[in-house]
Amino acid sequence: MARRIARLAGMETAHTVVELGPGTGAITRELLAALPDDGQLWAFEVYPPFVSHLRATIDDPRLTVVPESAEAIVEVREAQGLPGFDAIVSAVPFTLLEPAEITKILQAAARTLHPDGVFVALQYHPRYLAPLLRAQFADVKREVYLWNIPPALLLTARGPRENA
Ligand SMILES: C[S@@+](CC[C@H](N)C(=O)[O-])C[C@H]1O[C@@H](n2cnc3c(N)ncnc32)[C@H](O)[C@@H]1O
Repeated sequence: MARRIARLAGMETAHTVVELGPGTGAITRELLAALPDDGQLWAFEVYPPFVSHLRATIDDPRLTVVPESAEAIVEVREAQGLPGFDAIVSAVPFTLLEPAEITKILQAAARTLHPDGVFVALQYHPRYLAPLLRAQFADVKREVYLWNIPPALLLTARGPRENA
C-alpha cells in the first residue's frame, strides 16, 4: 500500500513533498525510494518517540523530520520560499481529531499545495473524510486498497480551492 501511495503522489517527478503523520516510517521509506535525488521530503510527526525513531532509523539527506503538528506546513512552505508542495501525503487519523482541527489541517494543506499538486490521504473509515476534502479541493477521488490488512481507503484531492 505504501508503494501505491507513492505512485498516487507522483513521487517519481516530485521535488517538494510533505508527509503528515509518518509514524514509524513505513510510508516514508517508500516515498523516499521513489523520490528523485534532488527531491526533499518534510515529515511532520507529533509523537516524540516516533520523531526519535524516524531520525535514528532513516539516514537520508532528503528527509527532514519536523516535530510539529500537520498545520505547521504553512510555516515550512514560507520559510523555504516555495510556490507550493508537489505532493502532501497524510496518514493522520482524522477520525480521532476534533472537526475544527481537521479543517485547520486540510486548509493548511490546500494553502500550501502547488495548484498542480496532489493531496493523498490514507483512511480506514469509508465516508468520513471525503466531504471535508471536497470543501477544500475541487477534485476528490477515492479507491479501496484491498491488499492491505485491514483494507484501506486512498483519497486523492487536486485543485486546492485556496489557490483557485
Ligand atoms: C496511523 S499512524 C501512521 C502510521 C505510519 N504510516 C507507519 O507506518 O507507522 C498516524 C500517525 O499520525 C500522527 N499524528 C496524529 N496527529 C497528527 C498531527 N496533527 N500532525 C502530525 N502527525 C499526527 C500520529 O502520532 C501517528 O504517528
